[in-house]
Amino acid sequence: MKLFLDTAHLHEIREAADTGLLDGVTTNPSLMKQAVEQLHDEEGEDIDLEEYIERIVKAANGKPVSLEVTGHTYDDMVEEGRRLFDRFNKINDNVFVKIPVNPSFGGEERTLEGVKAINELTSEGIPVNATLIFTPEQALMASKAGATYVSPFAGRINDLVRAKAGMDWDKGDYFPAKGMEEVDDNGVKSGIDLIRECAEIKDSHGFDAEVLAASIRNKRMLREAALVGADIVTAPPEMVKQSLRHEKTVEGMESFTEDTVEEYAEITGGDQ
Ligand code: G3P
Repeated sequence: MKLFLDTAHLHEIREAADTGLLDGVTTNPSLMKQAVEQLHDEEGEDIDLEEYIERIVKAANGKPVSLEVTGHTYDDMVEEGRRLFDRFNKINDNVFVKIPVNPSFGGEERTLEGVKAINELTSEGIPVNATLIFTPEQALMASKAGATYVSPFAGRINDLVRAKAGMDWDKGDYFPAKGMEEVDDNGVKSGIDLIRECAEIKDSHGFDAEVLAASIRNKRMLREAALVGADIVTAPPEMVKQSLRHEKTVEGMESFTEDTVEEYAEITGGDQ
C-alpha cells in the first residue's frame, strides 16, 4: 500500500520525504488556504503561492502531487487542469490534477461534467485524481472515465452517518468500520465500508484506477483502510506520527535504555 501525505505544508512534505515513507502528496483548496494562513499568522510570511507550489512539487521527490481545480463547469475544470499541468508538471513530472467527480452545487446541476472533464484531461495525457467520492459507483464511473486515482472520503461519510444518527462527535473520534444498526448512507455503513466496497468493485471488475482512501481522521482508520484493500492511503502528517506511537514502544525504550551496560554501550558507541 502506498502512503500519501494529505497536506500543503512544505515543511511536513520535506520531513516525510526524508523518512522514505512518502509515496505522494494530495492537496486541495482548503489545505492550500491553511498553509498560506499559517505561514502568514505564525511566520509573518506572505508567500507567493505559485512559487510555494513549485517548492511542494520539488519537495515530493518525483512522487505524485495532486493539485485541485476550483472551477465548476467542464470548460473551467479542463482549462484549469491544463494550466496546472502545464505550469507545474515540467518541474518534476509528477503532477496529477484533482477533479471533483460531480461539480454540481448550489442548485446548479452539472452531474456529468466531472466525468467528462476527467475523460478529456486523461485523453490529453494529464493524469487525474477523481475527488469527492462518496459512493462506490462514483468511483467506478470515474475510473471508467479514465481517472488514475479515485478518492473516497472516508471521514466525511462517517460524519454523515453520525449526523443522521443524531450523534455528537469530534473530528478525530473513531467510528466503527461496521457502522451502526439501521443508519447508513444508501447502504454504505461507514467510511471504511465505502473504501472496502470501492476496493471490492475494483477487484471484481478489474477497474484500472487505484483506490486512494482520503479524509482519514485517526490511526485506526489508516490501518482499516489498509486492511480493506485501499491501494493508497492519504493521511495528514499527524496520523502518520500517531501510527508510529505506542505506549509499549516507549516502555520498551525505557527498559532497554535502563538495561544498557557500559560494555555494550562501548561496542555500539551509544549512550549507557
Ligand atoms: O483528502 C481529503 C481531505 O483533505 C479531507 O479531509 O478531514 O477535511 O474530511 P477532511
